[in-house]
Parts: sequence; C-alpha cells; structure tokens
Amino acid sequence: MKVRFDILRRKNAASKPYMQSFEYEYENGGMTVAAVLNELNRREPLKDINGEDADLIRWECSCMQKKCGACAMLINGRPRLACDAKLSEYGDAIRLEPFRKFPVVADLICDRTVIFENLKFIGAWFEKNAEIGENRAALAHESSRCLQCGCCLEVCPNFSADTKFKGMAAAVPLSRLLAQVSEDEKKRIFKAYSKYFYSGCGKSLACRNICPAGIDAEMLMVNSNAAAIWKRKRKK
Ligand code: SF4
Ligand code: SF4
Ligand code: FES
Repeated sequence: MKVRFDILRRKNAASKPYMQSFEYEYENGGMTVAAVLNELNRREPLKDINGEDADLIRWECSCMQKKCGACAMLINGRPRLACDAKLSEYGDAIRLEPFRKFPVVADLICDRTVIFENLKFIGAWFEKNAEIGENRAALAHESSRCLQCGCCLEVCPNFSADTKFKGMAAAVPLSRLLAQVSEDEKKRIFKAYSKYFYSGCGKSLACRNICPAGIDAEMLMVNSNAAAIWKRKRKK
C-alpha cells in the first residue's frame, strides 16, 4: 500500500508555511503516523514526492505509547496523537499540520507552554495534604489521566491562549482537586473553577470524544458544574 503524506511545513515561527508531500509504502496498516515520521527522517537523503531534497521533519515525541501528549498534531484536520493514529484508519492521503491555537515553532511543533502557565495561574494544586473519600476515587482517577496534550483546546470554540477561559485542559485537573481537596481549600478551588472555566464554557461539547486519553470530559464537567452551582446557591 502507498500513502501520501502532505505536511504543512515552516522552518521557524517567522517563516512562511508551505505544503510538502512525501510518499510512503507499507504493508502493515497497524503502523502509526509517528512511526512513519521516524522512518521518513531516517532516509538519507530525505526526498519529497518530486524527488527534491527535503529538510528533516520537525515534530515532537517522547513515549510513543500515548502517555506523554508530545506528539499531538492535526491529522486530516482532527487533533490526534501521532503515536495513536494508525495508517489503516486513513485512505491514501494523510495531511499533517501543527495545532492552530498555539504558536508554531517549526513544522509540526507548537509551543503549548500556555497550558502549564494556565495551571500555575489558576493555582491548580494542593496547598495541604488531601484525602480522598472512596466515593470520589473514580472521579479523581479519571481526571488524573490528563496528558495536557491540548487536543481538547484545539477544538474548543471558546479557548484561545489569551482568554480568561482556560478550557478543558484546566478544568480536568481542577475536577481532580474538587474531588480530593481538603475542606479549607475548597473555596479557592471552587472560585478558580467558576472563574476560569464554568463562566466561560459555552457547553457546546465540541471537546466531547476528542481526548486521546479517553477521559470522559463531559462526566467530569457535569460533576464539577454541579458542585460549582451548588456552591453559588448556598451563597445566596
Ligand atoms: S483532557 Fe484529554 S484532550 Fe484535554 S489536555 Fe487532557 S488529555 Fe489532552
Ligand atoms: S464544552 Fe465547548 S466551550 Fe466548554 S470546554 Fe468543551 S468545547 Fe470548550
Ligand atoms: S509520543 Fe508520547 S503520546 Fe505520542
């Protein structure tokens, strides 16, 4: 089988993007996009589909096992982890692009620092030891699986790097805190959730079924929203 990879490339943040295509032959449809990128970069020299010399393709990876979130990119327009996207899921052409919601560094690499900066900004951590009740353990476990990959932010109509709304990548860790936080820290976490997520989320659920870790964001949101609303009502 042959597949054509159309890759949106640019040398650096300031340079003009251009599309470059590569051909790849395979027998095993279980091979992933990440594995193909590695294979292409092993070619010496790397030639594009027209036989022209091409620079190595810049992209990020670490675990190659869907555990770190580094290889997140747009694959045929949908946010995916390259190490989770199998060739058998696609036809004879696959388009790779960097995320659009974050500044591009080069080729498929973008700067997602804002995701971690947002967590620091909203104070998504415990200041004291936390205990977890048995009935909250499943919730805390579900939210602890977040890779901070940004796939949910890429599809979210309400998120951008400079908005007050911090998106699902902040709401998921906050859901974990809401499930575990000690009584005297609850006020701070409820406030952060309400201010930086609840009040800005349009409830469009565009982020539903997008998470590569399979996190049930809708369920977490429903639980946390219920807690946030309950808190507001109690205040009245
Ligand atoms: S919730 Fe899922 S999609 Fe969003 S950052 Fe976490 S792992 Fe990625
Ligand atoms: S429900 Fe809509 S606005 Fe809220 S986090 Fe998901 S995509 Fe964004
Ligand atoms: S390389 Fe770690 S998730 Fe793909």
